[in-house]
Amino acid sequence: MKKLSLTIIAFILSFSSVMADEGMWFLMHIERLNHRDMQKMGLQLTPEEIYSINNQSLKDAIVQFNGGCTASIVSDSGLVLTNHHCGYNAIAELSTAEQNHLKNGFWAGSLAEEMKPESLYVRFFVRMDDVSKRMLAQVNDSMSEKEREAALNKEIAKIEQENSEGGKYTVSVRSFYQGNEFYYFVYEDYKDVRLVGTPPENVGKFGGDTDNWEWPRHTGDFSLFRVYADAEGQPADYSTDNVPLKAKYHLPVNINGVEEDDFAMILGYPGRTNRWMPAQGVEQNVKYAYPAWVEGSKLSMDVMKKYMDADESVNLMYASGYAGIANYWKNRAGMIEALTEHKTVEKKTKTETKFNKWANKKANKAMYGDVIKNINNYYSLTNEKAKQTNYLLNILRASKFAVLPYRLGSAFQQYVGANDAERKNLLPRLEAYIEDTYTNYHLPLEKEILAKQLGLLVSKSNYSLPELVAEIGAKNNNDFTAYTNAIFDLSLFASKEGALAFLQYPDAAILENDPMYKLSNQLLDKYREQPEELEQPTNDYEASFRLLVKGLRESGLSDIQYPDANSTLRLSYGKVRALPADKRNDAKENNYTTLKGMIKKYKPNDDEFDLDQSMLDIYEKKDYGRYANERGELPVNFLTDNDITGGNSGSPVINGKGELIGLAFDGNIEAMAGDVIFDKKLQRTINVDIRYVLWLIDKYSNAKHIVDELTIISK
Ligand code: ARG
Repeated sequence: MKKLSLTIIAFILSFSSVMADEGMWFLMHIERLNHRDMQKMGLQLTPEEIYSINNQSLKDAIVQFNGGCTASIVSDSGLVLTNHHCGYNAIAELSTAEQNHLKNGFWAGSLAEEMKPESLYVRFFVRMDDVSKRMLAQVNDSMSEKEREAALNKEIAKIEQENSEGGKYTVSVRSFYQGNEFYYFVYEDYKDVRLVGTPPENVGKFGGDTDNWEWPRHTGDFSLFRVYADAEGQPADYSTDNVPLKAKYHLPVNINGVEEDDFAMILGYPGRTNRWMPAQGVEQNVKYAYPAWVEGSKLSMDVMKKYMDADESVNLMYASGYAGIANYWKNRAGMIEALTEHKTVEKKTKTETKFNKWANKKANKAMYGDVIKNINNYYSLTNEKAKQTNYLLNILRASKFAVLPYRLGSAFQQYVGANDAERKNLLPRLEAYIEDTYTNYHLPLEKEILAKQLGLLVSKSNYSLPELVAEIGAKNNNDFTAYTNAIFDLSLFASKEGALAFLQYPDAAILENDPMYKLSNQLLDKYREQPEELEQPTNDYEASFRLLVKGLRESGLSDIQYPDANSTLRLSYGKVRALPADKRNDAKENNYTTLKGMIKKYKPNDDEFDLDQSMLDIYEKKDYGRYANERGELPVNFLTDNDITGGNSGSPVINGKGELIGLAFDGNIEAMAGDVIFDKKLQRTINVDIRYVLWLIDKYSNAKHIVDELTIISK
């Protein structure tokens, strides 16, 4: 055989090995940047069918779900499909120990049985546009970062005003590429959203935190809601007169199944990526920020779990909060490992060394010469602060009484200073806020979390502590138990009655001397503190990071063609794709799992792997109907190589014809560094197969009337 030259081998390799498709793209750029590539991979839609401002298009069926997740419209009566873990909070809220829908599942038999949780909204995407020129015309290089921000905010207010149509729309102007580009987004929010159905928790969260972020996976991670509107189809507050929304478009569902290499695209709202982050920023996260996060989260989880296991009503109160903490606890631990293993800091440092050379060429020096120096200086000065911030953040996340006194106390300040007429106006609003807020908590748990978290903060911080915390810690050998008990006894914020009583006898001195109010203020002040000696480095850092991204794009030293995720609508395209083969999967092709595999994982009475008798029975009967695959198995989850992150949860996975084939719900632990550096070999998206979703509704839950609402495409 003839020897091939190295360049020819490289050429062949680059075509023979399928690469995951990195990138979270703007819909308005698809035509210019991606469409040809997508067509080659199997897309049959035109760019106009994906994103059109005036005509019905795919984008009309995609919603942001309650701020942090994604969902899609799947019927012409406003049916909304998202993940179970996205609906989790609402489902828990609608459950009681006696009527435990979270545990047992729930299916509304009619519209009248659909249940409205306190607050839940979906956000439709109306349009977006580039306003970079206009925004950047407001600023110049001699401005400090503060001046720059003020100038930009002024222009943002104008753009919002111009596009909101008198408050009909929510308008949001966002910066991209670290402040080098700006786009505005127009949204329409609907607030009457009701629960239609959910599988029981042992299906919707099957595998729990053990399987979370793992493949192979067998989770039925979906729930169904419905958007209601007034008779004209306009957003409206909850009312029994509201009717199911007829959205502009809904996704048809394809139950013919997927195969390796099938085209797959995902539209949704990825929350945050840090692909442009400097090397030392990654280093700071790996060595200081994330370890503190992991430790603080674990502490909260251990305390919460103890009380949740002992009492089902406590479990329902904290289940959603616990899942959120556990999710990012595992994520951050995985990030530390993956970023270290991938040598991400070393790789980024190499690029930055090249950049620095380029930056110090004569033509570039004036603008870019100090960029790397400033960035590195900033990080070396903020490592200990970053560590403490992460301990603090975990206190604020887990302890209700760390934040509440500050929030409510600020309103009380206003109330104290108000005249009679103003007080009359404020009173009912404050009372309602207190009634809403002082629900769903368990005092012993709250006391223990706060005490233990403060102890951890004091023992681990190498950065100046909140005064009060330092003082109590020193007095009591870092044991905050007695102190916490005392402030819960003394503070007006410790109970609903105390808070309501203050409204009757408002007194500035009482508020200022309140021990919980003091603590809460000090924790938040410390969290936000910007010490004087950091002001200039921070200013330099922000300007330098912006210049780094600008310079990396200008010099061609970065091949990233898309901005970091920031909770704006993006499209990712790729393929159905197995992970490199290993022995862990039960399926022949390592790109999907089956019900058979789920039953294999079944552990009676286990917290995470238990199943109901009804599931075992129906499995015995193998009644899969039209939802079985060609091997007669029921598919459960499958893999694609899309580029997504948290916030994409609940996003529809769509085939080349624009039909729904699954629901994205997770990433894999092998690629946990993905938010910082995309791994073309290992990064995968884990999806629920739409056939499993339909089978669970139709056969397992006997709610065929819901399946009948969908537009189903089958052979
Ligand atoms: N890892 C999933 C995500 O970030 C969340 C899964 C929730 N499940 C759980 N066991 N905590 O989207």
